[in-house]
Order: sequence, then C-alpha cells, then structure tokens
Amino acid sequence: MTLLQVEHVTKRYRGGVLANDDICLDVAAGEVFGLLGPNGAGKTTLVSQVLGLLLPDEGTIRIGDVDAIADPAAARRMCSFQPQAAAPVDGLSAREAIELIGAIRGGRKATVRTRASELLDALDLADVADRAVPMSGGMARLTGFCMAAVVPGRVVVLDEPTNDVDPLRRRALWQEIRKVADDGAAVLLVTHNVLEAERCVDRLAIIGGGRVLAQGPPASLKAQLGAPLRLDCALDDPTNVPRLPAAITLSSVTGRRLLAHVQHHDVAAAVAWAQSAQDEGTIVEFSLTAASLEDVYARWVEAEASAA
Ligand SMILES: Nc1ncnc2c1ncn2[C@@H]1O[C@H](COP(=O)(O)OP(=O)(O)OP(=O)(O)O)[C@@H](O)[C@H]1O
Ligand SMILES: [Mg+2]
Repeated sequence: MTLLQVEHVTKRYRGGVLANDDICLDVAAGEVFGLLGPNGAGKTTLVSQVLGLLLPDEGTIRIGDVDAIADPAAARRMCSFQPQAAAPVDGLSAREAIELIGAIRGGRKATVRTRASELLDALDLADVADRAVPMSGGMARLTGFCMAAVVPGRVVVLDEPTNDVDPLRRRALWQEIRKVADDGAAVLLVTHNVLEAERCVDRLAIIGGGRVLAQGPPASLKAQLGAPLRLDCALDDPTNVPRLPAAITLSSVTGRRLLAHVQHHDVAAAVAWAQSAQDEGTIVEFSLTAASLEDVYARWVEAEASAA
C-alpha cells in the first residue's frame, strides 16, 4: 500500500535556485526508500515539502489519503520526523525528550516508556540516557532518531540519521531503521552513507541538481552499470596512471584511487594486469569486488556534474 506519493514536485527558492525539478517517487508501507545525492541536491527541500513545512510551486504530495498541500497540518500529523539538524529539547535528558515526544504524538504512557527503553537499549544509550547535560553530536543525532521512532508516524522521515554516529551504534541504528519499516511504516531516508544504505533500503532515488537521476532497487541500479565487478587500485603516484587493457573500462581516478569496471569473463585479464602493475610499482595494492551502490552513485552524480 502506497503511503507517500510525490508527483512532479518542483520548487524554486526566492533567490532563484531550482532546488526540486519535477520529482516523482512513492514509498509503500513496510518499505525503506533511500534519498541519496550530493550536498545541495535538493533532498532536505523535498523532505520539507513532504512534511508541509514548505509549499511546492508545482506537483502533488499525498500521505495516505491526505493531500499534503491542501492540508499540511493533517499530513504532518501522519508523519514523524528526524530533522537534519538534530534538535533534542534543551535541558531534558535523552529519555525525557523521547518520552515527551511520544506523549505529544499520542502514545500511551506505559507503551511510550517501554518503547523508549527498547530504543535506548538497542542503541547502547541506556547509560547516558538520564543525564541532563549537553549531549555529544552523535548522541543528539541518535536521540533525534528515537524521537522519530518512539511513536512512529505512518510515514517516517529521517534526514541523515547516521551522521556523527560511531560505527557500532550505526550498525544498531540501521537495524532499528529497518524495524520501523518492518513494523509497517513507510520510511523516507536521506543519507550520504551509500555503502551502508545498500543493505537497508528496498529502493532508492539518486537526486542531483534537484532532479531524480535514477530510481529503483539497488540490484536493478547495479545491473544497469553493465559491469558486475569493480577493480579498485591504489596508485603509487596519482600523476602516473598505468594504461588499462582494452577489456577493462576506466571508471574514475580520484587522488591515488583508480576504479575500473570489469566483466566476469575478464577477471583473469584484470588480475594479471593489476598484478604486473603492482610488480612494476605503479600500483601499491588492488582488490576486485562486486560493484556496489557507491559505483552506481558515482556514475550518476559524476554524469550530472559534468553535464551541468
Ligand atoms: N531557504 C532557502 N532559500 C534559498 N535557497 C535554499 C534554501 N534552502 C536550500 N536552498 C538551496 O537549495 C538547494 C538544495 O538545498 P537542500 O538543503 O535541499 O540540499 P540537500 O540535498 O539537503 O543538501 P545536504 O546534503 O547538504 O543536506 C541548494 O542549492 C541550497 O543552497
Ligand atoms: Mg539536507
């Protein structure tokens, strides 16, 4: 069942920036939908319109049966939200802030208390949850997530929930994001954490210059790359890039890192080439792995940047 439907949304700010340009996407109950794209791509602008905080110039947004443009207050009540700038309530402990939001969102006291404890335990925050001192950046971010998840809306919007969060807590956080969707919400997730998002999202859109550049499940987007494998080389000298054999397609050279696309039947040739380049000293080390969502992201974002 589709819970969030965005159709042809266009938004130009007063200064003239076209921040969203004909964006279409939808998110179903039980789904995590990733919104990926470089800084300034228009992700937060889109999220603000979904939440009724900003009006589109054109297009429609529906949340369940509610027209979010005609009735933004009703739409907002159906959403819970973690803003990009984490803003837990000043002077409260993490637990108090989470329980307060749970109460405001209409949760029963005992249910809210239990759910707050579950979230705090899952994210390994139980020891610090009752301190009313200024929170660290990561802790504020995690508290912001718990505030969105304690009494989740039918649509849960998370704007960069994993920023500032340490690797082990991030792992737990991805699991909790997945659980929010598994419990029936439609999750719209903005993230720069492309590699980790690949394991959590069902579908995603890559946004660039305000437009949807590509959209679909990670596997189909990777299939569109046309090469299932990636050769990743560390160059000895970034100004001395060794020539690749014809069968291997150069993807990018960024500093000392060279990436190339490889087909299954060219694996032996790719490894032989990389081995000899390593013997000659032009490559320090290399690896051959399955293409990832990061390759998909780089392809679309670099193509958009060079077209702009
Ligand atoms: N209130 C505003 N007034 C004018 N321009 C704005 C406003 N907010 C954002 N912009 C511009 O709109 C574009 C999209 O910004 P937005 O915040 O949506 O990007 P984003 O994809 O969320 O980026 P980030 O990954 O850095 O959070 C940018 O060019 C930004 O400078
Ligand atoms: Mg943003």
